[in-house]
Amino acid sequence: MKKVLVTGGLGFIGSHTAVELLSRGYEVVLADNLANTNAAVLDGIAAIAGKRPTWANVDLADQVACRALLEGHSDLAGIIHFAAYKAVGESVQKPLAYYRNNFGSLLNLLDFTAAHPACRLIFSSSCTVYGQADTLPIREDAPVKPAESPYGNTKQVGEEILRDGARAHGFRAIALRYFNPIGAHPSARIGELPLGVPQNLVPFITQSAAGLRGPLKVFGNDYPTRDGTCIRDYIHVVDVALAHIYALERLLSGKGSDPVEVFNLGTGTGSTVLEVIAAFERATGGKLQWEWAPRRPGDVVAAYANTEKAAAGLGWRAERTLDQCMADAWRWQRTLPAK
Ligand code: WQD
Repeated sequence: MKKVLVTGGLGFIGSHTAVELLSRGYEVVLADNLANTNAAVLDGIAAIAGKRPTWANVDLADQVACRALLEGHSDLAGIIHFAAYKAVGESVQKPLAYYRNNFGSLLNLLDFTAAHPACRLIFSSSCTVYGQADTLPIREDAPVKPAESPYGNTKQVGEEILRDGARAHGFRAIALRYFNPIGAHPSARIGELPLGVPQNLVPFITQSAAGLRGPLKVFGNDYPTRDGTCIRDYIHVVDVALAHIYALERLLSGKGSDPVEVFNLGTGTGSTVLEVIAAFERATGGKLQWEWAPRRPGDVVAAYANTEKAAAGLGWRAERTLDQCMADAWRWQRTLPAK
């Protein structure tokens, strides 16, 4: 049974990926220090998968602790590295904490893959690296633009660290550039758990509809788009999780030319904010309260993925619709405490 370490495995995408790994017979070790989640997610994973993965409560940016964890699992076939701070706005307020945590954890893991090159690594990257792309849909060879936040910079530089490390030490890796992961597992046992006021659109929508927040504020109505609101590529978190299985299998099969390959994870379809609201209302039969608000600094007008490279290289395409995303997100929200 191949063993895989999932860092950030109690987080949003990590937990959904752990479920898919377990259902395919992988042995899964989760490393998560609960910086942005809670331990109850482990029960949700176990309830879906029918088995409870090992959980190590480890701060991966702590070199001694990370080394001790990895020495206990020197037979790892792969590492899927989700653990990172990921709030764009917070990263502007606390850049040093973001660099220390996101680079420290990555470097500690790469010390291991440099010593054990047979252990393959998948790195969570982001469409943020493209900034406002000149051409849509966005291809992986689109120019990486100067990062608009320290968070985005940790993804851009993280990919460079991967490339330099792989070239020098002979390990193999894949960087997956997520567009906008949303939704929840259809079982409603796991889903998105934003701590505090949600910065992202869909968790704010579901919390507002659940009466936990006031009306949704739509940031900007005068963008050069079909209805004046920003366009994003919203992809179901289960589709994102499945892409990690395909990427791992590509790495384990030894396919692929470059030591580090990059793939977009998106649906290839862009949706405006108003279209997301309409999808939520269709999926739930409810009416969402919302109001216009000023543009949010840093927002790009439009971003959606060219999906051809992922389809050809991973043999994967997103399958779930925006309406399914909203129905699953709402079902999950209704399981959460009303307070
Ligand atoms: C989507 C659209 C907002 C909230 C961010 C990160 C990205 C990735 C995904 C980690 C935008 C609008 C939002 C609200 C709104 N995270 N909006 N009212 O900004 O595309 O991407 O999350 O990798 O790196 O940048 O996602 O959900 O915040 O915003 O109108 O209350 O919804 O203006 O147009 P974003 P988002």
